[in-house]
Amino acid sequence: MNRALDLADPALHESLTRRVEAVRALLRTIAADFAPAAFACSLGAEDMVLTDLIVRDHLPIEIFSLDTGRLPAETYELIDTLHKYYGLKLRLFYPHHELVERYTRENGINAFYDSIELRQRCCFVRKVEPLQRALAGRKAWITGLRASQAATRAGLPLRSFDADHGDGGLEKFNPLAEWSENEVWAYLKLNKVPYNALHDRFFPSIGCAPCTRAITPGEDIRAGRWWWENPEAKECGLHVKRP
Ligand code: ADX
Ligand code: SF4
Repeated sequence: MNRALDLADPALHESLTRRVEAVRALLRTIAADFAPAAFACSLGAEDMVLTDLIVRDHLPIEIFSLDTGRLPAETYELIDTLHKYYGLKLRLFYPHHELVERYTRENGINAFYDSIELRQRCCFVRKVEPLQRALAGRKAWITGLRASQAATRAGLPLRSFDADHGDGGLEKFNPLAEWSENEVWAYLKLNKVPYNALHDRFFPSIGCAPCTRAITPGEDIRAGRWWWENPEAKECGLHVKRP
């Protein structure tokens, strides 16, 4: 988590209260006007804010996760905790076993370290293709993306039309687009929301185990993701528009 957080800061409380009310209103609108809507939950810190808000407000928005088969043990523990804490039955989508078997047979078990192309193909098989199935038949999907997370996410809109998923496209909402990292952590701490144990071990951004490492103080929050690649390439393809 963010060690510099001052939970008693009145300015933080004020901005957080405004932001939470705006997100709750947006989520209600999505649930009412864009059914069936779904929330893609990576189980990272941002996504725990949205999970908490959706569950507490009993919104008819399905919460799902893409289980790549390579997630850290701590992420599976959090899925179990969410079941116990909220009674949440997170819907899990899996890669097609034929595609995983072919990929590993042709390239090896850890081939994502060998080239950007092989890394992106692994992400396609384990995340991007399952996401296409998860979003079939939906009118909207929700993500926990924030603009300040990465250079690739600057200017992130709150809402846009996603022509690449769903049946002929669907609305994509990023309710936390303008939130700061401090606001995310203040929400989690003040509301006692469960979160991934790795966050307290210097993992601000968590994906698959072999592609995520801890960062050192002062490093960029996504420095631990695909750390062997340059920052412009560091997206798994879930949020990249097709040319
Ligand atoms: S990634 O592109 O680098 O993997 P990141 O971990 O920052 O993405 O997550 C950004 C958003 O993508 C999350 O808030 C979530 O909406 C979605 N997402 C990423 N990974 C998953 C996953 N395994 N399951 C469901 N949604 C995911
Ligand atoms: Fe494969 Fe790594 Fe992408 Fe996970 S993050 S799908 S292990 S390349």
